[in-house]
Amino acid sequence: MLRLRENDFLLGLFGPNCSSGVAVTKIPERWSGSWEDNLALARLADAVGIDFVLPIARWMGFGGDTNFQESVLDPTVYATAMAANSRRLTAVTTIHTAFTHPIVAAKQLATADRVSGGRVALNIVAGWNKPEFDAFGVDLPTAHDDRYALAQEWYDIVERIWASDGPVRCEGRFFQVNYPGGAPKPTGRITVLNAGSSRQGRDFAARNADFIFTIVGGPEAGKDVVPEITGAAKERFGRSAGVLTNGHVVCRPTRQEALDYLHYYADENADWPAVDKLMAELGLHAQSYKQELLQAFRSRFAAGHGSCPLIGTPDEVAAEIAKFSAAGFSGMTLSFVDYVGELEYFAQEVLPRLERMGVRKPR
Ligand SMILES: Cc1cc2nc3c(=O)[nH]c(=O)nc-3n(C[C@H](O)[C@H](O)[C@H](O)COP(=O)(O)O)c2cc1C
Repeated sequence: MLRLRENDFLLGLFGPNCSSGVAVTKIPERWSGSWEDNLALARLADAVGIDFVLPIARWMGFGGDTNFQESVLDPTVYATAMAANSRRLTAVTTIHTAFTHPIVAAKQLATADRVSGGRVALNIVAGWNKPEFDAFGVDLPTAHDDRYALAQEWYDIVERIWASDGPVRCEGRFFQVNYPGGAPKPTGRITVLNAGSSRQGRDFAARNADFIFTIVGGPEAGKDVVPEITGAAKERFGRSAGVLTNGHVVCRPTRQEALDYLHYYADENADWPAVDKLMAELGLHAQSYKQELLQAFRSRFAAGHGSCPLIGTPDEVAAEIAKFSAAGFSGMTLSFVDYVGELEYFAQEVLPRLERMGVRKPR
């Protein structure tokens, strides 16, 4: 189970269930997103002590030369399979509340929890990607209030199904449920993650999530953002929540090698039309990426979906991760162009450094 740990820093992997992962690149050796490669990743991540894997829920590619993220393994099926093929790894599933009925989600999550012995978690997405809503024939509510009202009703139903031995009825604004009751139940509380960044998104996260994602420009932002988010959860809902952020890694024996590789995949061979499409959709319909971040960090979108760069030698990458920990973050997700090959080097060189620096305890 993924839980908040005092004086320890959680590390996860973001997006390996997607073709290209989160690197918007045309290089032929870009991540396949295949099950075979993910199976190798489950075993490696488990062996080296990565805490969690966070798949992306995506229903269509972003166009460009590669149709970025065209092929995406379903996050709940994926999480169940990743957990079944590991012993310690927590596998998060990402669910769009507008596209997945809460009775179905409650059943799937309880099943995944049973299969994994309590090692699945839930990332709740209220939705922002308008073309996906159009594909489902569902209106993307223009008001964030409505998006998160639906998400709250959805999660309340899921929780009630898990908690109740009797029938669950709901005559809600968005769901009408008349359910005799669901079994099996999860073995314990399922950890909830959320990445809402609008006012309503943050309220939702403060009320429901154990871990709240926030996109930042760099570790220094944590000094303000982390107390603000954790303080809101505590004051308004009496809850403890950890704050997570995300980064992309290029770690090589020399800084120049790391910079050269970054230039190769995320500049020279970036899929720029796909980068621009992704940024346009995010800028129009989501508030997680502040406008100034969107403007300043086009290159970060090519390199890793707008996440923070962790680029350089093992010493430099470890030092940068340590800054996020010192700034109060509870952990971060990592992405690599080659999740398996590069994680191996990262685990060999960076993880022991983080342990020696006291950032992470040995797993
Ligand atoms: C780490 C992380 C993971 C996310 N995963 C997904 C995802 O898999 N699918 C998706 O549609 N949105 C995903 N999002 C988007 C957020 O859930 C959120 O809907 C979006 O950032 C808009 O926030 P807002 O509703 O507060 O404007 C993710 C965001 C972050 C930071």
